[in-house]
Amino acid sequence: MKTLWKDLHAITMRDGRYNIIEDAAILTEDGLIIWIGKAHEVPDSDAQQISLNYWWVTPGLIDCHTHLVFAGSRSAEFEERLHGISYSEIAAKGGGIISTVNATRQATEQELLKLALKRIEFLMKDGVTAIEIKSGYGLDLNSERKILTVIQKLKTLLPITIKATCLAAHDIPIEYKNRSDEYIDYICDVMLPLFASENLIDAVDAFCEHIAFSPQQVEKVFRKAQKLNLPIKIHAEQLSSLHGSSLAAKYHGLSADHLEYMTEQDVIAMAQSDTVAVLLPGAFYMLREKQLPPIPSLRQHHVKIALSTDLNPGTSPMLSARLLLNMACTLFKMTPEEALAGVTINAAHALALNHQHGSLEQKKIANFVAWDITHPADLAYWLGGQIKNKIIVNGKILDV
Ligand code: NIG
Ligand code: FE
Repeated sequence: MKTLWKDLHAITMRDGRYNIIEDAAILTEDGLIIWIGKAHEVPDSDAQQISLNYWWVTPGLIDCHTHLVFAGSRSAEFEERLHGISYSEIAAKGGGIISTVNATRQATEQELLKLALKRIEFLMKDGVTAIEIKSGYGLDLNSERKILTVIQKLKTLLPITIKATCLAAHDIPIEYKNRSDEYIDYICDVMLPLFASENLIDAVDAFCEHIAFSPQQVEKVFRKAQKLNLPIKIHAEQLSSLHGSSLAAKYHGLSADHLEYMTEQDVIAMAQSDTVAVLLPGAFYMLREKQLPPIPSLRQHHVKIALSTDLNPGTSPMLSARLLLNMACTLFKMTPEEALAGVTINAAHALALNHQHGSLEQKKIANFVAWDITHPADLAYWLGGQIKNKIIVNGKILDV
């Protein structure tokens, strides 16, 4: 069944630029884009026709770094931080990630699924049609597996594309206090092989930071991931410079994420391995960071820059992709065009989805969003409110 989507302006994001086609049309068949171009050049076809009111159409947005399967709340911690206690101090006294781990371990699969669905719905309403979700609030075999099973369920329940990443190396669990090397061995010897054999994971991530794991420990995890043929990602240079991003580059990582404290050497290493820089302005904002990621240097060395909500209870309870675009522009001085590339084609690269997602081009999956706006920059410009949109997933209008 063919559908001709007409009366629209296309922001194609081909080659990471707006690459606008005004007065455009898109022909889709069996969930794929089979033609896109000027309305007056539409090929002959008996397709059903759907008008998009001359709204502006972007590729479906991609949120390439989230931790949205968790239980409990950390709003009290947010309040503590505003009384002057730092994120690291809270983590040191058993709060932070570990408090979410406790709540998540106690929650049932059903409870976690319900909570996750609620959070994804916000993002979908905002035009997100592909998303990555990490484990990392379980930190033992059964709890990590429970989270990954929830992600697996989400894949079957929702029409959007979902990628699952194992972040068992997110923090040191209480049972392994002062024995972080042993926990890393447990991840490598037991968790990763099992999750891989059960097809529960698409990638492996680790938190490389003085409050989490050292580069040497992370490298062990990467070597194991490589043996299992799983791509790697890293949380790096968020609070200090340990060169985790260079380490990710060494293993041809899909992405290195956060990156406020990265050096120019790290940038060069990432450029050489085509590892995507995923910036997370929500975490930067919530932690009131001062150190900006080195955007001019990333631009200069042609590192692809993606953006993500980092949706998590501790540092980035962010439920809006449009707010993310705005923060990237106001806080990181990215242009609205760069920001849009960050949640479309570059985010697709960060998940190895770039052949099917991220731009409006022939042969890609027919995931796109028609927005009631008058200029592409409107998406990054408005703070809050709701922009009317129509979301198309796999060639069908989504009812969210
Ligand atoms: O991406 N950096 C580590 N992990 C999360 C924070 C998790 C938490 O505080 O619960 C992040 O910011
Ligand atoms: Fe994160």
